[in-house]
Amino acid sequence: MEHHNTIEAKMCPHVLLFPLPIQSPINSMLQLAELFCLAGLQVTFLNTNHNQQLLYRHTNVESRFRQYPKFQFRTISDGLPDDHPRSFPMFEDLINSLQAVAEPFLRDILTESGVTCVIPDGLFYYAVDICNEVGVSVISFDTISPCCLWVYLCFPKLIQTGDIPFKGNDDLDMLIENVPGMEDLLRRRDFPFYRLTNCATDLYCQLALKEIQSIPRSHGLILNTFEDLDGPLLSHIRSHCPQTYAVGPLHLQLKTRLADKRMSSSNSLWEEDHSSIQWLDAQPIESVIYVSFGSLATLTKEEMLEFWHGLVNSGIRFLWVMRSDLLREEEFSHQFVKELAAGCKERAYIVSWAPQEKVLSHPAIGGFLTHSGWNSTMESIVERKPMICWAVYVDQRVTSRFVGEVWKIGLDMKDICDRDNIEKVVKDLMVTNKEKLKKSVDKLSMLAEISVGEGGSSYNAFEYLVDDIKKLGR
Ligand code: UDX
Repeated sequence: MEHHNTIEAKMCPHVLLFPLPIQSPINSMLQLAELFCLAGLQVTFLNTNHNQQLLYRHTNVESRFRQYPKFQFRTISDGLPDDHPRSFPMFEDLINSLQAVAEPFLRDILTESGVTCVIPDGLFYYAVDICNEVGVSVISFDTISPCCLWVYLCFPKLIQTGDIPFKGNDDLDMLIENVPGMEDLLRRRDFPFYRLTNCATDLYCQLALKEIQSIPRSHGLILNTFEDLDGPLLSHIRSHCPQTYAVGPLHLQLKTRLADKRMSSSNSLWEEDHSSIQWLDAQPIESVIYVSFGSLATLTKEEMLEFWHGLVNSGIRFLWVMRSDLLREEEFSHQFVKELAAGCKERAYIVSWAPQEKVLSHPAIGGFLTHSGWNSTMESIVERKPMICWAVYVDQRVTSRFVGEVWKIGLDMKDICDRDNIEKVVKDLMVTNKEKLKKSVDKLSMLAEISVGEGGSSYNAFEYLVDDIKKLGR
């Protein structure tokens, strides 16, 4: 009987995906889930009740996934009361409370449900432990940028060499020379936790250490990138995890495989304001800079005003996503935003959430002022839009360095938030350096497209991934 079950499981593998409960990983994991559905696998998507309600309210995922008979959503509580904030300062609460709920849930579902492979977010190190404990295969999916993941993988060495925690002077321009491949590149100010003074007490440093310790305990590692973008880094990462699948850009891989059927659709946790597209329709080609700081990053009111005046003074049109929780430690006032916008009606348009992929693909968009979240970066590359980077934390700080210095597809503002500097970088992006930056990003975009086409590196990596999942029995 057991033998029969194993054969059946091998014939139709059952994958359980478990994303970090925030927008960016939910996007990437849903894209991966849909790719698995297209490959004929049985798929369970484990989401938090809170996020599932938002997804159902603001998107058509429910009907979209209904067409796949072997797909199901499962939900669990994230352990927080409904009205508890879940944005960045409260992120720690969310991670801890979810772990308390998810651990027993995973033990139960994995012993009962015939799941043959779990794909948790890289941050869920405990899911890897549970899989090993109950004998189910596990492949981690690190949804952050691979350049940051490589820095994480070097943490033990950096602690040994005394590079971290930072001590002594406060020189943020000091190079960190012990990350292979980044010897002349990575400054303290580009480090994921750039004010790191104590590794033992810094929550995010501890999480990163647990995350990298779980990588060798997984069967493989999935990354949302492509060989022509991150090849040298992938070689380094493969020295720790030989079975690394670079399957990105995932949204483009999905779009390409769905090409004859339909375009991929939104996975937004917020309601998308499509009036942004109508506004863009009325603007000249490549005349608008799109401004968005993703789903979690916050600004102080002072920073917000510097950005506003810098943008206005540049004379360039802009479309700005101002989430209602964009302001740090302050009540977001719609009145305040209204007053700002009233002063610059012809050239500025504000929404609280946009259909970002559509916005970036719009011909009126000439550039992207971004927080350098990994999905935003990949989407900008695919849509051939050069970037200005205002990195706030974690992987964004490393990614923005790569955007400016390695890929040369944007300008890294790193820590200098004053209106004169903002005015200058906006003009540089949209006028002075436009051609140069556009040429580099066009080339990367073309390589991204090739990578997901039949026979391309990401296309093949996905095929290998599916084959390997089929081989992994219980
Ligand atoms: C978080 C972390 O902040 C980031 O460092 C890490 O790389 C990924 O997780 P997030 O703020 O969600 O990222 O940014 P990002 O990775 O850029 O993802 C945001 C997603 O939301 C994108 O897919 C983007 O298309 C979407 N989005 C954003 C919208 O659909 N509309 C918007 O108005 C803004």
